[in-house]
Amino acid sequence: MQEDWIKTLGKMTYGIYVLTSYHKEAVNGMIASWVSQISYDPLLIMAAVHPNRYSHQLIEKSGCFALHVIDRQQMEFLARFKGPDPKSKFSSVQWARGKTGCPILSECMAYLECNVIARYTPGNHTLFLGEVVGAQSFSDGTPFASLDYKGVYLGEK
Ligand SMILES: Cc1cc2nc3c(=O)[nH]c(=O)nc-3n(C[C@H](O)[C@H](O)[C@H](O)COP(=O)(O)O)c2cc1C
Repeated sequence: MQEDWIKTLGKMTYGIYVLTSYHKEAVNGMIASWVSQISYDPLLIMAAVHPNRYSHQLIEKSGCFALHVIDRQQMEFLARFKGPDPKSKFSSVQWARGKTGCPILSECMAYLECNVIARYTPGNHTLFLGEVVGAQSFSDGTPFASLDYKGVYLGEK
């Protein structure tokens, strides 16, 4: 991609979330920033997930995902969930199953749980459209966002 296009993409702003998923006993979490509310009624959220992600397999199998808003002070979540090793991600963090069965992190600002109602693959990410079936806000603060993150998620692979 042309350098000035990449530079332009780097100027777009996003929330940075922890997206969790599961299938049977397996649980996983990943950092996701290509996320948006897309409808008020019904309340729909879109998460764009690359097919290479382990989370992708789990969402496909279980048909749900959960999104966590984290505080900008919780930088350790970035290191914990941006990697590919599912075993290390939940060690020494508190979590419980939500109503969809997805893991819900206790130490987040807020979370939403969604059942997937549609999926589209217009490009190199799958757009999972989720209907919100649960949501809770635990604390106030400043949500972690791309302005707090030095890198840029380009979604190339
Ligand atoms: C700031 C940031 C934003 C990211 N946003 C996304 C995203 O929206 N969609 C995606 O598929 N991957 C995204 N990633 C990459 C995944 O978090 C990363 O590939 C992770 O290892 C996937 O984990 P998994 O394979 O265990 O599911 C992002 C990474 C970072 C650091």
